[in-house]
Amino acid sequence: MAVTRLLSVDDAEELASLVCENRDFLAPWQPLHSEAYFTADGQRASLQQALDAYRREAMVPLGIVAEDGRLAGRISLNSIIRGAAQSAAVGYWVSQADNGRGLASAAVADAVDIAFGQLGLHRLQAETVLLNTPSQRVLIRNRFQPFAIAPCYLKIAGRWQDQILFQRLNPSE
Ligand SMILES: CC(C)(COP(=O)(O)OP(=O)(O)OC[C@H]1O[C@@H](n2cnc3c(N)ncnc32)[C@H](O)[C@@H]1OP(=O)(O)O)[C@@H](O)C(=O)NCCC(=O)NCCS
Repeated sequence: MAVTRLLSVDDAEELASLVCENRDFLAPWQPLHSEAYFTADGQRASLQQALDAYRREAMVPLGIVAEDGRLAGRISLNSIIRGAAQSAAVGYWVSQADNGRGLASAAVADAVDIAFGQLGLHRLQAETVLLNTPSQRVLIRNRFQPFAIAPCYLKIAGRWQDQILFQRLNPSE
């Protein structure tokens, strides 16, 4: 059963509460955020941008939904590239209180279905910092394969950090 749904600007307040509750938990794994990111207005503006990009078919912004219907996190297909690449990058997080229940694993499975089904993409990439074992487990469980270590690939928590690059190919493309 799907654990994800398309986000809307109406989710701004719930997302603002969630990112505030998880500010310390998420900080080591994400880029630095402005103070506005932690407000409902900031989340509304960011959702508007994401939905504009969705309409241009450049990304798919999804909420991860807990069993009781609450939002428990986010997963996005980012940087959708057509032409010769036919690829996208997947990024996600799950609220600390909802960790360990398989939500991220199920959300990545949903994102793979959308990417390879509806969007007909050929390849998905995801990357994690070297020490993010839970995220690596989520990817391996979803049959992503590690294929490289990219030095200083992303600025995470304010520092350019090495990343393990994972990919999964669409067997029917
Ligand atoms: C990584 C994250 C998405 C996992 O979410 P989740 O809903 O708890 O994930 P799941 O329950 O689907 O799976 C977690 C896996 O990590 C494993 N795990 C959890 N803590 C672990 C630890 N300290 N060491 C090793 N494995 C660990 C679990 O056993 C499980 O693997 P398994 O299914 O093989 O048993 C969540 O912790 C998170 O949002 N972290 C911060 C942001 C982040 O890292 N995002 C990803 C950036 S690449």
